[in-house]
Amino acid sequence: MLKTVLLILLALAVMGGAVGAAHLWRVAQRNKKEMAPFQGPRQPYTAQLGKVLVIYYSWTGHTQAIAQQIAQHTQADVFRLETSEPLPSVPWAPLLLKRQLSSGRYPQLKHPLPDVSAYDTVFVGGPVWWYTAATPLLQFLREMDFQHKTVVPFSTQGSNYGTFFEDFAQQARNAQLKKGASFNNLGPKYDEAVANKIILWLNSL
Ligand SMILES: Cc1cc2nc3c(=O)[nH]c(=O)nc-3n(C[C@H](O)[C@H](O)[C@H](O)COP(=O)(O)O)c2cc1C
Repeated sequence: MLKTVLLILLALAVMGGAVGAAHLWRVAQRNKKEMAPFQGPRQPYTAQLGKVLVIYYSWTGHTQAIAQQIAQHTQADVFRLETSEPLPSVPWAPLLLKRQLSSGRYPQLKHPLPDVSAYDTVFVGGPVWWYTAATPLLQFLREMDFQHKTVVPFSTQGSNYGTFFEDFAQQARNAQLKKGASFNNLGPKYDEAVANKIILWLNSL
């Protein structure tokens, strides 16, 4: 009996591993195809976006890295969103964050809202959590009035941004939205391609 149970568990573990490996392989292939147009020499930055503010939330640093590149090209001021209380650091934190999403009880933000009145273009970015925007970013959108400014969303994610941009558009009060961009977390071999993707996106705005 014990032997049968162990065999079943082993079979399930092998199947789970195979499904996981197949998923990772598919994601890697998709990333390769998606980033191919951005390979090659560094493109020139030609955008004229006026006075720019980059607002972002980042828990583990990926969104911050993209925000910094946007800010560097556009010579923007930067506003980092932070939560009043640190996010849970237990191993099951993703489930707690999922509950924040389903209950609508988002974390409070630490700072007063940024004043966007002096800016021509406002970039707003954050990570994807459970196929939508991270709860601190949703909390920001709940509180913010964009005063009819040009707003450009951006996301970072493992591989699937779900309804991030639709949800962002629904929540961003009085924003004149321009085309956003999403950035999968990629290894260092894609650094140059990501840099080009950012430049070409900025140039297209
Ligand atoms: C709670 C949680 C949920 C996530 N959900 C998704 C998801 O639905 N799709 C995805 O591609 N990545 C998902 N991720 C991965 C993050 O979107 C990704 O690592 C992101 O770049 C993190 O940004 P940050 O480093 O700026 O916090 C999730 C991460 C966390 C912590």
